[in-house]
Amino acid sequence: MTNARQPRLLSYADRLSVAPSEPIEFKVSSLIPGEFTAEIVRLQHGDRNPEGPGFREHIIKSVANGQYPARAQDIDPGSFIRVDDPSDRLALTGAFSLHAFVFPTTTDQARQVVLGRYALDTETGYALEVGPEGVTLRIGDGTGSSVISTGDPLYGSCWYSVGATYDPQTRIGRVWAESVITSTNSLVANTVPISGPGNSEGILDRELGVAPAPFLIAAANAGNRFDAHFNGKIERPAVWSRVLTDDEICALRDGNETRTRLVALWDFAADITSTGVTTDRVRDHGPSALHGTCQQGPARGMTGRLWAGVDERFTLVPSEYAAIHFHDDDLEDCGWDTDLTWTVPDDLPSGAYALRITQDDEVDRQPFFVLPPRGSATADVVLVIPTASYLAYANEHLAPGGTFAQSIFGQTPVLGAPDLYLHEHPELGLSLYDLHSDGSGVHLSSLRRPIVNLRPDKRTSLGGPWQFPADLHLVDWLTEKGIEFDVVTDLEVHQEGVELLSQYQVVLTGSHPEYITRETLDAWEQYLTQGGRALYLGGNGFYWVTNWHPEKSHVIEVRRGESGIRAWQAQPGELHLQTNGERGGLWRWRGRAPQKLVGVGFATQGFDYSSYFTQTEDATEPAVAFIVDGIKPDEKIGDFGLEGGGASGFELDRYDLRLGTPPDCRLLATSEGHSDNYPRVSEEVQFTMPHMGATMDYQARGDIVFFHTHNGGAVFSTSSIAWCGSLSHNDYDNNVSRMTENVIRRFLDSTPLPDEGSVPSSRQ
Ligand SMILES: [Fe+2]
Repeated sequence: MTNARQPRLLSYADRLSVAPSEPIEFKVSSLIPGEFTAEIVRLQHGDRNPEGPGFREHIIKSVANGQYPARAQDIDPGSFIRVDDPSDRLALTGAFSLHAFVFPTTTDQARQVVLGRYALDTETGYALEVGPEGVTLRIGDGTGSSVISTGDPLYGSCWYSVGATYDPQTRIGRVWAESVITSTNSLVANTVPISGPGNSEGILDRELGVAPAPFLIAAANAGNRFDAHFNGKIERPAVWSRVLTDDEICALRDGNETRTRLVALWDFAADITSTGVTTDRVRDHGPSALHGTCQQGPARGMTGRLWAGVDERFTLVPSEYAAIHFHDDDLEDCGWDTDLTWTVPDDLPSGAYALRITQDDEVDRQPFFVLPPRGSATADVVLVIPTASYLAYANEHLAPGGTFAQSIFGQTPVLGAPDLYLHEHPELGLSLYDLHSDGSGVHLSSLRRPIVNLRPDKRTSLGGPWQFPADLHLVDWLTEKGIEFDVVTDLEVHQEGVELLSQYQVVLTGSHPEYITRETLDAWEQYLTQGGRALYLGGNGFYWVTNWHPEKSHVIEVRRGESGIRAWQAQPGELHLQTNGERGGLWRWRGRAPQKLVGVGFATQGFDYSSYFTQTEDATEPAVAFIVDGIKPDEKIGDFGLEGGGASGFELDRYDLRLGTPPDCRLLATSEGHSDNYPRVSEEVQFTMPHMGATMDYQARGDIVFFHTHNGGAVFSTSSIAWCGSLSHNDYDNNVSRMTENVIRRFLDSTPLPDEGSVPSSRQ
């Protein structure tokens, strides 16, 4: 592969939203010597499609604008635990024993360290490893290492008791591996023999050196990096400062650890509380309290060797969830040094911005959203930017990495330079649509890394913008229409609740607010109950149970499971979120189908082309006359646009009284003309049968709806990701633009909306 197409500038910020007078930090890595130029720009439109308005940004005069020294910064992915050992209790020089329960997931990968104090760069110290040779004890003297191994590799995704002893007097080392499989805790059942159990003993012909590096669980030190990452789960790792007896070793497999000369015994269940396991700490039950700290966000709340398959809520049975799952591609925070800290001026208007970085012919734009001053609103309309959804898709590898993209898209994916760069640079971390290197689903995503698809002009492999660049279609339209609006993100709604939303007469969504927290759903519901008015201008919204990490607002969590359009499936017993202990999956299965909130919910998706809506009988009702004002009854709505050529496309939502669409809801228009590339969503399929595509299944469609809520509130929903891509058509003079403007202008008029409480005549 050449470097020619690889961006040589990468950047990220420590946050995506910032209020006036607050600081935001930017971190830049450049492979080009010299200086880069930084400028603050206000973003208006990112889509470079020649059919549309084109790229629009405006430079903001700022003290931040200027030249900065360029330097390269590294990324070191892979999760592990670092043990705080100020008294060097783990700098072993005499006899010792090591033990852990392990559930390895990449057993063919060489040299994965379970635990040890070992320096790979100098080959110093001791480590218990797994790899193609099974379980290995390694002793390094600073010039090289000696090993003894069980021989056969462990069988993947099965629980084992593994350990080692070593006596420097005799130089005799011993390693063992014994499966501890139950009916439920492993890939195969306990009825069958599996490879791996073994026991080896021999002489290790090197001195035991002391590594000038910390004791780690699930990785080893490699200079100023960490390597030899372990993929899989570890439970109850322990260290003793003597050689255990045969009886003591036998007792270990039952979890009965002797405390005689115990140095440390880490219990990963100890910090599970009724609201999850949100701390990075792991607790040592040994005599010296050598607690550890998780690095780069391994998975907690994961089934351990004692999981019985009865209870699935880890907060109720912590002892069955005493495992941590480590991945060599976890990435929670690149930890780059800051190049530029900027305090947002008090008078900077709320909106979408970016730090534009240029050097030679390279340019990168790190977006951020400027909020109105905390506790206040500066407009009557607010656009809620769905940053949790941006993070869910952050650095997604669907097209370059997935074998199924072409089938889903109904067209050949078109890969751009950022897609190829991601494919070649897995160190930038994964999205919630990807699998870890061991095949497990990615359920945590962080903004503290370069996110190459969170860029204003990024096009997906489908051809059009998606998420952030698609939401700029709406930002541009509001700007061109002269509709004043504030920008907040879903993080502020999550944190501040209805108090934030209730400052506004009208609330707008983005094009695809798919990932929603309970707190955000509550805020929306309360806002509408209090008389708030909302436009849901997207598709497949309010879908996945999501949470912001309570102590790290740069991290979100999603556990995918049971049904729904999903890139992976949580393993048995692992559907609950580690960040709050609550059940993951679809909101629909927690009694909160999107239809109950916005009148419509996910019905179908397809990506070959977008279509249009036709108006229904309900569109002739007096209650909705203001919405269709200026639009003829026989007009197709949105048979044009930048997202697949129509306003109805990509992901579509449906009116459905059985799923909670309110009884007074008007179904103004429904989409038609979709191909069989639009099948019904899997959560609605109880029986599979032919003819489930949109040409035959009337429920595979999108609907435009309107309904009233309490106290003069109302909701207008357009049910399609592609909607906002049609707003600019014909110089903003079109029926998608007109309908959207009709609703926003009328919603801004606080007088009562017509016919509140009436039932549509079509249902009388
Ligand atoms: Fe989505």
